[in-house]
Amino acid sequence: MDHRAIGVFDSGLGGLTVVKELHKILPNENIVYLGDTGRVPYGSRSRETIIKYAMEDIAFLKSRDVKMIVAACGTVSSTLPREISDHLGVPYADVVRPSAQEACRLTKQGRVGVVGTSASIRSNSYGRTISSLRPEVQVFGNACPLLVHVVENGLVQPDNQIARLSVEMYLKPLIEEKIDTLILGCTHYPILYDIFDDLLNHEVALIDPGKCTARYVKDVLTAQGMLSDRKELGSTDYNVTDQVSGFEQTASLFLGEPVNGSLNRVELV
Ligand code: DGL
Repeated sequence: MDHRAIGVFDSGLGGLTVVKELHKILPNENIVYLGDTGRVPYGSRSRETIIKYAMEDIAFLKSRDVKMIVAACGTVSSTLPREISDHLGVPYADVVRPSAQEACRLTKQGRVGVVGTSASIRSNSYGRTISSLRPEVQVFGNACPLLVHVVENGLVQPDNQIARLSVEMYLKPLIEEKIDTLILGCTHYPILYDIFDDLLNHEVALIDPGKCTARYVKDVLTAQGMLSDRKELGSTDYNVTDQVSGFEQTASLFLGEPVNGSLNRVELV
């Protein structure tokens, strides 16, 4: 049993799609969230820069004495080397492995698409993980650099034409490959779930990294005897590296509920 908080981080607000699912399946856990809103996006940056930023995010969460660290960011998950993530002193979860496992479980034709940031697609992290689990499955990736901006600017309503046209453009080559399963390989994308689903005629299995990752976190904490036995609802402490104004409105879209918890602007060192 461990009453310390779960630490969750992302380059911005996308990681809140993981927090949303953690609230559902681990409602009694405390969470410390860090969104590096001052430096979002990470996905168009070099590997070295992404690793540097991720290390600073992790150092912040460790300074809060969290019991587990969750990289709720496809870009960091695809880039941070195992030599670092295996030695954090607390359990670590990323979004790649849980999403890849779910894709392997769901695909019928063995044709899996992955959408993500440029860094995630360049790394082929999803393709490598899927090959290690089911070598016969073919993986088709497409980088979608516009989508993080679409989402961070709140253009997320299902009838928003900018969001729809952007998603349509990025789906085209994947539809031509006849994918039957699609990993939303960036934590910003589940908020566009209905648009993806609609443009794929509801015929493709969509994988939301928030849902699979939250289940994975629960499994790890359960296996290690680290769940809290708190009876009351847990609290969430939100931290961002840029202005807090506007956070609550956009964050509530990601969370699917009003922001309920403390909110602070923090400096990373
Ligand atoms: N949520 C991040 C991811 O999953 C956002 C990407 C970015 O910062 O470019 O990749």
